[in-house]
Amino acid sequence: MTTQHSAVATVPASDSGSRTGWWRDAVIYQVYPRSFADANGDGMGDLEGVRDRLPYLRDLGVDAVWLSPFYASPQADAGYDVSDYRLVDPMFGDLADAERLVADAHRLGLRVIVDIVPNHASSEHPWFRQALREGPGSPLRGRFHFRPGKGESGELPPNDWESIFGGPAWTRTVNPDGTPGEWYLHLFAPEQPDFDWDNRAVADEFRSILRMWLDLGVDGFRIDVAHGLVKAAGLPDLGVHDQLRLLGNEVLPFFDQDGVHEIYRDWRRILDEYGTDPRTRRIAVAEAWTPTVLRTARYLRPDELHQAFNFQYLGTAWDAEALREVVGLTLDAMRPVGAPATWVLSNHDVVRHLTRLGSGVDREQDLRRARAATLLMLALPGSAYVYQGEELGLPEVLDLPDAVRQDPAFTRAKGGGSEGGGSEGGEAEGQEGMRDGCRVPLPWSGTEAPYGFGPVAGGPSWLPQPAEWAKLSVEAQTGDRNSTLELYRGALAVRREHPALGGGDSVDWDDAPAGVLAFRRTAADGVFGCTVNTTTETVRIPAPGRLLLASGPVTVAATAGIAGAFGTAGAGEWVDLPGDTTVWWDC
Ligand code: NOJ
Repeated sequence: MTTQHSAVATVPASDSGSRTGWWRDAVIYQVYPRSFADANGDGMGDLEGVRDRLPYLRDLGVDAVWLSPFYASPQADAGYDVSDYRLVDPMFGDLADAERLVADAHRLGLRVIVDIVPNHASSEHPWFRQALREGPGSPLRGRFHFRPGKGESGELPPNDWESIFGGPAWTRTVNPDGTPGEWYLHLFAPEQPDFDWDNRAVADEFRSILRMWLDLGVDGFRIDVAHGLVKAAGLPDLGVHDQLRLLGNEVLPFFDQDGVHEIYRDWRRILDEYGTDPRTRRIAVAEAWTPTVLRTARYLRPDELHQAFNFQYLGTAWDAEALREVVGLTLDAMRPVGAPATWVLSNHDVVRHLTRLGSGVDREQDLRRARAATLLMLALPGSAYVYQGEELGLPEVLDLPDAVRQDPAFTRAKGGGSEGGGSEGGEAEGQEGMRDGCRVPLPWSGTEAPYGFGPVAGGPSWLPQPAEWAKLSVEAQTGDRNSTLELYRGALAVRREHPALGGGDSVDWDDAPAGVLAFRRTAADGVFGCTVNTTTETVRIPAPGRLLLASGPVTVAATAGIAGAFGTAGAGEWVDLPGDTTVWWDC
């Protein structure tokens, strides 16, 4: 009898995706610059910190890095309120740092995707400030959605739309002479006025911004609120309250309007100006909340964008049937448009998947499940997104004191009085005031906070890190073959090496006991198998092949032969697959 629980040796990168497009099977690592690494010791992450750690990301085995916004910003929404799209905020560095970061990443074989925020600017953006200064009637107001209020003296908002962060989506302005003035639309915080994309100056400005960053060398863009740019003509009322719960369930007059697709056709032409070689192509990934994966696929038609986040997958419970369904629906939706599926479990807006999928009662069990979920995600055909710190098995921090929280959703939606606990899954999660808990700075080394996040032991970090994170640091986990970090390293190595992993657009499901998922992926020169036990009980099944990697301890043993309930029993071997465990097989 043999017990196995570790990765196979690191293997050189294969070139699989580059024949058809590097992004099709890419593992893309999200860096949240505030919280990744702080080179200058001010308690806030910065671009130099990211550059210093690029070798870590190369060795982890990811293909690309997506950086959340680092542009000039008053930070009302952690940088998603941009006051100058062509500048780096001094708290993150400067343009020369950005250039050096991109160049170094390329030298290490990593691509760089940057965030672009076209739905709204900062209220400190010069266009908005000037429009305010010039008052009603100024053509500059046409770049945003300014409207007179309703009611006798314009004291009511122009329509009933609600902000994603809570409260009305409109704020009243004050005229240059001090009298109450028009209202302006902000789907997010009042400090984030929405652009009016019917205005030509807006479209021209963004074309120019895209080109500036493409000229600097970035490999693509993550488009913030890609579904929001076009609003229904006349800005019609919704007629209902609690509009947050409708997000992702219905097409709303401010989200997923048909007109957005014309914008992305235009952007695609710009990206294509920079070349169409599949190894160097510039790409765009949409953050698009839509009611169905079929509607998401509309953003990925051949003349539009390259990828979109799969929020339906992120919102799926740890349940075999539900997972099988969402995987099937996703692959079926992407095939006709020829776009790769994407898979994601965590990001800077949602409760970390260890905590979200777990019971919250037993940390060890939550970690087991998170690791199993990761191996499932990385086994699926297409591209996967990894959020910084998930490779360390970081949980959500649920007990941040109110005083340190910075998420505008927290103060607006909860009136500043919420307890930790996290949102429940589904498309709207993470927008409910709980986003600071997934943004706590990473632990890199040492035994004293900030655990190598900053250069000095005992130095600052913009959010406090839990004391237990010393045990979870990169340093503490490196070389420990049972650690989550080594699991990710091993998984990404196998993913690059195995001919049937990475790109592709289908899986073959095998029959499996209740609560177990089993599928195979077949390439010309290899067959890969994945079995996932989503229950908490051990299940004995025939081994479908040679064990490559497991998310936790499993027992594989030769027997006289067990009647195969599913899959292909490899030479009479069986496996005892513990609860919350995923195993990869070479079949
Ligand atoms: C989505 C971003 O991921 C989130 O962090 C931000 O608050 C909103 N868009 C508004 O820009």
